[in-house]
Amino acid sequence: MDGFSRRNILKAGGALGAVGALSIASPAHAWTWSPTGSVAGTGAGLDPRWVWDEEADPLVASLLDRGDVTQVNTLLRTWTKNGQPLPAGLPADLRDFMERARQLPSWADQGKLDLAVEFNKKRGLYLGVLYGLASGMMSTVIPKEARAVYYSQGGADMKDRISKTAKLGYDIGSNNAYCPDGEMIVTAVKTRLVHAAVRHLLPQSPYWSQVADEEIPISQRDMMVTWHSLPTTVMQKLVAWKVPIPSNESAAFLHSWQVGAHMLGIKDEYIPASWAEANSQAAQVLTPILAPTPEGIKLADILLNLGSSVDAGILSKPILGAFTRFMLGDQIANWLKIGREPIWDPLLKVAWGPFIAVREGLLPFPLAPEAYWLFDEFLRKAALLFLSEARPISIEIPDSNRPS
Ligand code: HEM
Repeated sequence: MDGFSRRNILKAGGALGAVGALSIASPAHAWTWSPTGSVAGTGAGLDPRWVWDEEADPLVASLLDRGDVTQVNTLLRTWTKNGQPLPAGLPADLRDFMERARQLPSWADQGKLDLAVEFNKKRGLYLGVLYGLASGMMSTVIPKEARAVYYSQGGADMKDRISKTAKLGYDIGSNNAYCPDGEMIVTAVKTRLVHAAVRHLLPQSPYWSQVADEEIPISQRDMMVTWHSLPTTVMQKLVAWKVPIPSNESAAFLHSWQVGAHMLGIKDEYIPASWAEANSQAAQVLTPILAPTPEGIKLADILLNLGSSVDAGILSKPILGAFTRFMLGDQIANWLKIGREPIWDPLLKVAWGPFIAVREGLLPFPLAPEAYWLFDEFLRKAALLFLSEARPISIEIPDSNRPS
């Protein structure tokens, strides 16, 4: 590692290749995952590709048709804490739905949720980076998601959109996520309403309809695909990096995301009961469908530019790109037109493993790679960037699509 100085490494970042256009998603795969592996333990076993949200969808469609959304958004802006009563003045059908939707499932285990908070505190640095660069970048090669995000109202302002999504990653990991003074229930219920609105609105977009390979977006299967890009991918990376995680903490982290899935309107029969079940479902629904789209490439570019405005050095686009290549592999990086980095790419390959080992106390400090301080600074800055982007944001129901 001799000869690597911070300045050289930052200078050697290089430029990203031009953003191009690629398309063609993989064909859909048959659904064979059994509900016996779910938190419900039983179920009809229907392919979730053809299941949406039968409670929220007609309700929000009706709010949109009645012209109630602006007023509802104004009222819901004041609803921020899980334990807070719903604001007065909401339409009665919406209020009834939200009172039901805000209840935690009977299988929620407060002990596990508390432990998940501990885990999030201990592992916050890794989690911030992984949500941002592993999950966030992966979402851009999930074709249905990339198209939905791009052509929905929020697609017109991607930075704001990314910030809002980051809010969920922040809320699920913050203190008291699901307790009365936390915010995760509020965020999840609002997001459930947003998704229902998108299911009603996107089919009316001429732009989305032209490129989409479906008539109604955000099926339960899509929800699970995105869910796997979050906790399943994050845990797979932590395991691959050999970060020591006690099994009860690992189970607690899973549990907080199982409850999150339920609160987002995913049916219990599709939510995996264990990491083994999650990995097997992800291998079936997530890995085979990853593919580039023009919309995803544009989204990825915006995500990679997010750091430059905050810290042009350590979070520059080439460095974020190299981390993306390191985390998601060459194929995805190439799909996203992420340039090769002659210094960063090999450095990450050689030094990241020892860096984690030193950080975790598994290697004595004298063997610390020289890149240690740089990686550590990167972790801190990136975690701050991806998680702090989230804080003061209010999630609102869209009432239109991206205008062009
Ligand atoms: C909105 C999270 C699945 C497409 C949101 C928001 C959050 C979120 C927090 C609110 C932020 C905003 O308003 O921009 C999640 C999570 C998912 C999931 C945690 C799964 C576990 C999906 C899937 C799709 C999708 C599968 C599409 C296939 C969208 C769109 C919006 C949205 C289009 C609205 C953007 C707008 O306001 O126009 N999601 N999402 N989401 N999500 Fe998801």
